[in-house]
Amino acid sequence: MSKVKIACLVSGGGTNLGALIKAQQEGILTSGEIKLVISSKADAYALTRAENAGIKTAVAVKKELGSQEAFEAEIKKLLKENEIDLIILAGFMTILSADFTKDYPDRIINVHPALIPSFCGKGAYGLKVHEMALEYGVKVTGATVHFVNEIPDGGKIIMQKAVDIKDNDTAETLQKRVMEEAEWKILPLAAEKVSAEIIKNK
Ligand code: GAR
Repeated sequence: MSKVKIACLVSGGGTNLGALIKAQQEGILTSGEIKLVISSKADAYALTRAENAGIKTAVAVKKELGSQEAFEAEIKKLLKENEIDLIILAGFMTILSADFTKDYPDRIINVHPALIPSFCGKGAYGLKVHEMALEYGVKVTGATVHFVNEIPDGGKIIMQKAVDIKDNDTAETLQKRVMEEAEWKILPLAAEKVSAEIIKNK
C-alpha cells in the first residue's frame, strides 16, 4: 500500500494541524500524507494553514447543514470522495455520533489537552480543560492521543505526555505549554505510528 491518506478535521487555529504539516515536511510523518482538511468553521485559521501547504480544504458547518446527521453525512461524503484511510481530529470541537464512529473503527484519532481519564468527556474542550486542571489543583497535566469511539474521549489511548503545572500558571500559559511540550510532539508521532500499522496490516 502507498501512503495512508489522512484527513484532518479542524475548527480553529490549527496549531496541531501545523505540527502535522511540519512533521510531514521534516520526515517524521512518512507513512501517511494529509490529503484533505475539513473545517467545521468557515473562518478557521486552520484552513489558511492548509492552503499555504497546498492541501485541499473543505468546509462543513452544522448550522448551515441543518442537523448533526446532515453534518456527518457531508463529512462522510468528503471522506469517501477523497478515499481517506485515517481521520485525525486536530482541534475539532464537535463530538461525532456513534453512528459516525462505528464506520471507522481504529481509524479516527484525537488529541486531547489533558491526561485522560482526567478532565475529559463532554464539555471538556479547549481552554476549559486547562481551567478544570487549575481549579482542581493538579500538579501535573499533559496531552493524550487516543482512538475515537462512541464514548467522548473514551477510546484506546495511543500516546500520552506529561507537563508540570507551575504555581503562577493561568489557563492560557498552561494551554500554550501543553501544546508546545506535549500535543505538537505526540500527535505527529501517533499519526506516524497508526499510519505505519495500517500499512502493515493491509
Ligand atoms: C488543542 O489544545 C486541542 O488539544 C484541543 O483544542 C485545541 C485546538 O488547538 N482539543 C480539544 O479540546 C478536543 N477535546 P489548535 O486548533 O490550535 O490545534
